Amino acid sequence: MEQTTALRDASVAKLRSIPMFSDMSGGDLDTFADMVQLRRYPKGAFIVNQNEMGSSMYLLVSGRVKVSLASPDGKELALNYLEAPAHFGEMSLVDAEPRSADVIAVSEVELFSLDAKDLSAAIQINPRLALSLIATLSRRVRHTIARLEDMAFHDASHRVMRVLLNVATASYEARGVPVIQGLTHYEIATLAGTSRETASRIISNLAKDGALATKGRKIVVDLIKLRERLEGE
Ligand code: CMP
Repeated sequence: MEQTTALRDASVAKLRSIPMFSDMSGGDLDTFADMVQLRRYPKGAFIVNQNEMGSSMYLLVSGRVKVSLASPDGKELALNYLEAPAHFGEMSLVDAEPRSADVIAVSEVELFSLDAKDLSAAIQINPRLALSLIATLSRRVRHTIARLEDMAFHDASHRVMRVLLNVATASYEARGVPVIQGLTHYEIATLAGTSRETASRIISNLAKDGALATKGRKIVVDLIKLRERLEGE
């Protein structure tokens, strides 16, 4: 019993660190904490497998995951990288279709899983969960439209620059520095729908032009120059 209470207190503290839950009352958080299970995954673990039926959704507490598709001949298209706080695996629960993509841990990951049968009750306790699900889905549709537009109308060079600009802009907005960290050239290539060799060549040309600088495993982007290059194409 002691152990159960301690576990629940730990879950409540972690839930409170997720913005969506930060202003929930203690009692509601306790009820919610009883519905979710805290899980840890090592780097490289498949948390969700494409085409399987889904029975849970996930709230990412710490770490990073990759949402990706694999072709039968082993090629990979990364749809997105998600960083905590974020949620995933909700689509199968909402539309009762198989999982739309693989979700793979790219660092150690800690998350809460929520069973499909508890989703309605969870939304009743915290209606912000429903709004957050809708907002996330609508952001994903916009993101997918932009990717489709890039695939249809632009070449690999434009797509790589777009990925670099998006990731560096997100880093600037979150941390005040336009830095790409923790993404390899292969991962940038899978996000841009091109080969690693092409992505590396484009990154090195951009470095020569002064639109970015590579420092060890970091890429520091000159947001203004890169945007000018992208818009000038
Ligand atoms: P589901 O289809 O249940 O399982 C795979 C999950 O990946 C899916 O739910 C979404 O949560 C997530 N996902 C699918 N497409 C994207 C995308 N384009 N961007 C971010 N996450 C996605």
